[in-house]
Amino acid sequence: MAKYQIAWIPGDGIGVDVMDAARIVLDALKLDAEYVPADIGWEFWCKEGEALPERTVKILRECTCGLFGAITSKPKDEAAKELAPELQDKGFSYRSPIVRLRQIFDLYTNLRPCKAFPGNPLNYKEDIDLVVFRENTEGLYSGVEFHPLPDEVRSALVDFSPAMSRFDSIPASEIAVSLRVITKTGAERIVRQAFEYARKFGYPTVTLVEKPNVLRETSGLMTRQAREIAVDYADIELWETNIDAQMMWLLKNPTDYGVLVTSNMFGDILSDLAAQLVGGLGFASSGNIGDSFAVFEPTHGSAPKYAGQYKVNPTAMLLAVKLMLDWLGESGMAENLEQAIRKVIAAGEIRTYDMGGSNSTLDVANAIVAQL
Ligand code: NAI
Ligand code: MG
Repeated sequence: MAKYQIAWIPGDGIGVDVMDAARIVLDALKLDAEYVPADIGWEFWCKEGEALPERTVKILRECTCGLFGAITSKPKDEAAKELAPELQDKGFSYRSPIVRLRQIFDLYTNLRPCKAFPGNPLNYKEDIDLVVFRENTEGLYSGVEFHPLPDEVRSALVDFSPAMSRFDSIPASEIAVSLRVITKTGAERIVRQAFEYARKFGYPTVTLVEKPNVLRETSGLMTRQAREIAVDYADIELWETNIDAQMMWLLKNPTDYGVLVTSNMFGDILSDLAAQLVGGLGFASSGNIGDSFAVFEPTHGSAPKYAGQYKVNPTAMLLAVKLMLDWLGESGMAENLEQAIRKVIAAGEIRTYDMGGSNSTLDVANAIVAQL
């Protein structure tokens, strides 16, 4: 049996294109792995009423980790219309398979490195090297939302303070509430992951990005935990910033920062900005990491207009492979792959359309293989 069982989950659209590129590179690296194909995405929603079939969850449970391409998703009503006729009106409702994966496997860390590779014409500035740690399971994306407003939630709101009595007379259908939930454990484990990464890869600072002056309780809890954990890492400095100001500073002085850690929604926003600073969707990879399982993916979607054309940039996918290799403990291979990617970008001869070139997805993979 191979050393690793890797769930192979291309999904929809260009997910397939970039996963083909990943396979070329993994085969060249001779990773001791077996790749176990698993279904996910739109096709399975339409045919089975489930974008993440139970058999896929089972495969994932038996694998070391997963490598995921991208999926297509659509708003609730549109999704319902595309269900197979025999499944219509049977109570199926579309749920994001990637959000479900994070929940089922408690993949609480969303790791998003954003590095400016020298020679990338899309870099905002040279020498940017940011790593965003986004909490992946709670915060404002916990999924606890109310609309129309139930009476008991209204009571809690109105009783909160005299100023809240203004919500008493608003009709239930005209008010919606989403809860921002932060737990001590949730805060602790994401901050600890950030510090561990900073130590492993030699970053001198960890920046906690929150808003404790306004979100006194939830951001307050994050801040207290971060300060407590920072004590265990005397060699790394903890910086504390507010999310709004951080967005400006990231544009102004992106090279001042290294590892950044934050809660779910702030991290979603922060990591998109960070990714754009180093070339955008073609370069943005991510890891969804739990204590004993992880799924790695490019952050882009299925880009249906390019599906099957092998036109898009596989770098984001290949950087996700690099993250996977690091997570597996294959540091030498991970480093080798990153150096090869770096060389191809620096040479500037093989480029996909987003970088101003006309090479294919697989040309890039093959050029990288030639550098391994
Ligand atoms: P998208 O990320 O699929 O594509 C937006 C545009 O970015 C593309 O049209 C293309 O111009 C560019 N792009 C994306 N990846 C690229 C790459 N590797 N190289 C070069 N250019 C690239 O986002 P969009 O169009 O908003 O969504 C399309 C579908 O993907 C939707 O169904 C959406 O729900 C889904 N989606 C899935 C995600 C996932 O699987 N994690 C994440 C984001 C969107
Ligand atoms: Mg996002």
